[in-house]
Amino acid sequence: MTGDEGVPPPPAGSVPPGWGWRSVCASTALVERGAGVRFAWPGQGRSEWPAFVVRADGRPSAFLNRCAHVPVELDGEPGRFFDDAGLYLVCATHGACYDAASGLCVAGPCRGKRLSALDAIEHDGRVWILMNLEIR
Ligand code: FES
Repeated sequence: MTGDEGVPPPPAGSVPPGWGWRSVCASTALVERGAGVRFAWPGQGRSEWPAFVVRADGRPSAFLNRCAHVPVELDGEPGRFFDDAGLYLVCATHGACYDAASGLCVAGPCRGKRLSALDAIEHDGRVWILMNLEIR
């Protein structure tokens, strides 16, 4: 860890061995309903998954970058996850609209399904995601 990555938050409650918080960006990098930050999420069963975090209703909201309709990344233009009005996360492929806080699809071909949510918090001026720290 380098000096600009901040101090990790306290350990999460009940998590698998080897899991913990990793900083993915500064808090200031996320503007309310603005561009998202893409990152690789080391989870279980695969070395890394594409993922992203945005700010919605003042809080970081993170998901795997994988549409619930067809498993493709949502952002046609890297980091552009919100619609023009900043209301919903939108899949660039067929236009599914997702609630940015819950990941629930509210319109489109996968209505009623959800994005895979990741645990995200802000601490010490950074955004932190819960992940498997033993992969990489
Ligand atoms: S692939 Fe996302 S809406 Fe079809």
